[in-house]
Amino acid sequence: MWKHGILYLVILPSGHWSRWSGEWEYSSGARAKSNGGGRWYGEAMQVLLIASEVFPYSRTGGLADVMAALPVALVRLGLDVTVLSPWWQSLQDGLQGAPREVWRGSVARSGRMVPGPVRVGQLDEAGVKYLFLSTPDFDRPGLYAPDDVQRFLEWGRQVLPTLGSMGLSFDLLHGHDWAAGIVLAHARVAGLRSVYTVHNLQYQGRWNMAEAAIWSGLPAETLPAVEFYGDLNPMKAGLVFSNHVTTVSPTYAHEITTPEYGEGLQGVLQERLARGDLTGILNGLDVERWNPASDPDILPLTPQYGKAANVAALRAEFGLDAAPILSAVTRLVSQKGIDLLVGALPEVTQAWNVVVLGSGDPLLEAALKGWAQHPRVRYVSGMNEGLAHRLYAGSDAFAMPSRFEPCGLSQMISMRYGTLPVVRETGGLVDSVPHEVGFRFAGATSGDLSAALKLARAEWDDKPGWQARVRAGMALDFSWEASARQYAEVYRRVLEG
Ligand code: GLC
Repeated sequence: MWKHGILYLVILPSGHWSRWSGEWEYSSGARAKSNGGGRWYGEAMQVLLIASEVFPYSRTGGLADVMAALPVALVRLGLDVTVLSPWWQSLQDGLQGAPREVWRGSVARSGRMVPGPVRVGQLDEAGVKYLFLSTPDFDRPGLYAPDDVQRFLEWGRQVLPTLGSMGLSFDLLHGHDWAAGIVLAHARVAGLRSVYTVHNLQYQGRWNMAEAAIWSGLPAETLPAVEFYGDLNPMKAGLVFSNHVTTVSPTYAHEITTPEYGEGLQGVLQERLARGDLTGILNGLDVERWNPASDPDILPLTPQYGKAANVAALRAEFGLDAAPILSAVTRLVSQKGIDLLVGALPEVTQAWNVVVLGSGDPLLEAALKGWAQHPRVRYVSGMNEGLAHRLYAGSDAFAMPSRFEPCGLSQMISMRYGTLPVVRETGGLVDSVPHEVGFRFAGATSGDLSAALKLARAEWDDKPGWQARVRAGMALDFSWEASARQYAEVYRRVLEG
């Protein structure tokens, strides 16, 4: 136990911690009981979600979207939810404006962290409390940078002492992806319970043990558990030190226990699975943010009307001919398989117009720029929120030839916007794209993608068949409520276990 306003641990004689706080706060244990029907009662369960990015304040990918929608859905179920992320200098304002500083202290010394204060900003929105923790190394423009492993390990070791000295207490910590993994290692040392969610197993935050061990501030006896081929692996820290591991679709939960998708961590994941500690929970979609009937970036779109008008508008915007439009909105990384699409373009452009929005791998960008000379290919580099919405609404089909896809959100948005996804059969794409709506293919090759697009084009020519698929897709329910209930159930099991 650390004393004097740092962190007080509450470990009950039964070994059943309740929560930590600036004071001894544990009472009768009523808080950790359920009524047997799976519902929490009494005081609301207090959960701290931890992630590197949270929409709309910071975003590079789907993780930020999950961190925006899941907390709101949990609050609707009656949980008390706080979301912690870095106070990036480039933080965007939310509805309630910029965070106000609520705490300032000095860093727990470590590594080469530049001198300066640790600051915590706060704002509350839609019943969720957002905390932004800044260390001096986050005080610079942009988001991710080459020294992220060091930054996040040093950031992660500040989290519990800082919250402790702010007098905040939580029943459960819920970390997301590698950047939060190390916090869960510290949480385990402190006797706190936690859940860890893998959004993408590929990014692990590995670094050589000698340096990373110092940055992390972890006690020596915990290091063997986070060691990975001689390195320190923060993703592994989350996997081994949490009480329960979840990932963002049931199919991905299975896939990551195999060598093909396990990124070297399949052994660790198999062990967690064998103990019943690995669950796949399909992400939902923020159906208010992605509502085609009221989306200001597009022409009003409902299952009854508006699709043709949006397609016509997109066709006009890009000067495309009468062939159907296939689009992709994506980061250009190998995971997303856009190279498979590029490889398929000679064949695909015979039957489709193709529009790609996104940036990333310079080689892929160059290839797409080259292809954009073709009358049926358009490429827009970068990210453009308005255009993304117009592509979802105005395309006929949407390509996701992902090599792996933990969940994926674009396929859900497409279906809701009347655009049929053409997806590789992997991860969340399997769990969210029904055969009656989209087109699925198995092999990660341009030929397989091409073949699926050939079938899709034949179906497009058969108007009633296509229409039936569009209507079925728009009728699917992707709201977060069902997913949030599953998370709440995992939390309950962890707290009672
Ligand atoms: C990552 C995954 C993506 C998933 C998202 C949110 O970006 O690559 O499949 O949808 O996290 O969980």
